[in-house]
This record gives sequence, C-alpha cells and structure tokens, in this order.
Amino acid sequence: MTLALVDAGSGVARLRGFIRDFAELGGPPGASHAALLRDLVAHDDWLPDAYAQPDPDRYRQYLLHCDSRERFSVVSFVWGPGQRTPIHDHRTWGLVGVLRGAEVVRNYGWSGDGALIRTGPAHRLEPGDVEAFGPDIGDIHSVSNAYDDRVSISIHVYGDNIGAVQRATYDSAGRPKRFISGYANDSLPNLWDLSSR
Ligand SMILES: [Fe+2]
Repeated sequence: MTLALVDAGSGVARLRGFIRDFAELGGPPGASHAALLRDLVAHDDWLPDAYAQPDPDRYRQYLLHCDSRERFSVVSFVWGPGQRTPIHDHRTWGLVGVLRGAEVVRNYGWSGDGALIRTGPAHRLEPGDVEAFGPDIGDIHSVSNAYDDRVSISIHVYGDNIGAVQRATYDSAGRPKRFISGYANDSLPNLWDLSSR
C-alpha cells in the first residue's frame, strides 16, 4: 500500500496529503506550493473541530504540523468576530489560504526615511484565495476578520517553525516590539493512524 492510495478522500487524509506533497516540493516556495495550498483550502471538510475553535478575547493560532527539520510549519488561524492581528512581520516566507469566512489584509513597508507606511489599499481574501508574503516580497501586514458576526479561518504555511520565531509587532509609529507567537494548542492532529484502511 502506498501513501498515495491512503490519501484519497477527505478528513485529515487531505491534510496529510498536503503535507506530504509540500515536503516533496521543497523550498523556496513558488507557484506549485501555492497551488497545493489552493487545493487544500478549496475543500472545507478536513480541519478537525479542535483546531477551528475561536477564543472570545483574541485570534488563535493552532499548529497543525511542523516539519521535523523545521523547514516549514502549517497553522490554522482562527478569528472570532471582529478580531484582528496587530501590525507584525514574519521574517520567513509565508502562504495564506482562506478556508472559511473572509479576511482583510493591510500591507506595510518602510519609506526612504525609515517610516512605516501602507503599501497599498486594504484587500479582502475570500475562501479559496491564496496569497504569499515574506521578506523578499513584503513581510509586514495586519490581518483582520472581515466579519463582525462570524468566525473566519485561514490556513498558513511558513518557512520555519513560526511559533518559535523571534519577530516583531509594530505600533502605528513603526516602533517594534519583540514577539514570539507560540501556539494555542499542546497536541497536534493525528495524521498517521492509517488503520481505517
Ligand atoms: Fe501575518
């Protein structure tokens, strides 16, 4: 039996197949990586409920998988109604794909005199949309739930163990504040029990 056969279908098998295919591509990320994420978020039948739970006070970041060599990590971001991130950076490449609801992204960059400025209009990502960010293409943004009355969820892939990366949030004047996000969960989805086959 091959993994390819096991990975037909939905549920966590879909996430397992994504992780396997993403690892096989290797880095740096490109169109093929984005296509894999686009296919993953095109189906909303695989994210276990435990990793889709909002918190009443702030957005949650659940680790779904971390590569054994920390080459990439996969996270579900869960926004309660109206929740948003501060302005922040990542210091590694990232891909975001919207699974449920919608989110609004505001991008920032540095002006010639060192001020933190908006680098374009706010834009909205709908279910199935995939967007890249990172040090080479723009690494600072804030993200908010587009809805004030429902949960939104997006799936993120980062080029590191993102919850352990030392990075920064920024206030409106561009002053950085040290930030290591961690994760909301202590246990991961079990992708590897293949006994149902
Ligand atoms: Fe971000």
